[in-house]
Amino acid sequence: MGRGFYIQDMTTQQIVRMGALVLSRRAEEIPDPASEEIAALAKDMADSMAAAGGVGLAAPQVFQSKAIMVFHVPSFRKSDDPDDGDIPLSVLVNPTIEAIGDEVVDGWEGCLSIPGLQGVVPRWNKIRYRGLDEKGNEIERTAGGFHARVVQHEYDHLIGVMYPERMEDMTLLGFA
Ligand code: NI
Repeated sequence: MGRGFYIQDMTTQQIVRMGALVLSRRAEEIPDPASEEIAALAKDMADSMAAAGGVGLAAPQVFQSKAIMVFHVPSFRKSDDPDDGDIPLSVLVNPTIEAIGDEVVDGWEGCLSIPGLQGVVPRWNKIRYRGLDEKGNEIERTAGGFHARVVQHEYDHLIGVMYPERMEDMTLLGFA
């Protein structure tokens, strides 16, 4: 998604930083995923994510305690895992995730709510996730590698967890 291309009709929200209560609360389930309000929120979130140069954003990061995330996996982040990206911009409402197998892998993560820092976080290597898109269509995908990592990171925002809470070695937290 080219930056600049959408500038004319972009609505970007300020991104909430770590320490705000909204980031440590469990987000509320969305009763009406196909509503215009949710479609508008999804677009705002996608615009805000693009403007900030991120690969994922969860609604609590724009002060909305609602169970919705947006993400994409650019081709250059894709690993050789067959279930990894090139994943186009995706909206996931009321998601659930489950681990497939028990393999856990370490990888570097950053977060738009913790600008400048990055850390090594263990995540499930393979997951299955389910949810709805902003039109109410069901989504079910198997994800591996970076794709699985992004979805787990954004899902954590919806249950009030920030990536440093998942870290096992805090010496691997530092400025990028
Ligand atoms: Ni984040």
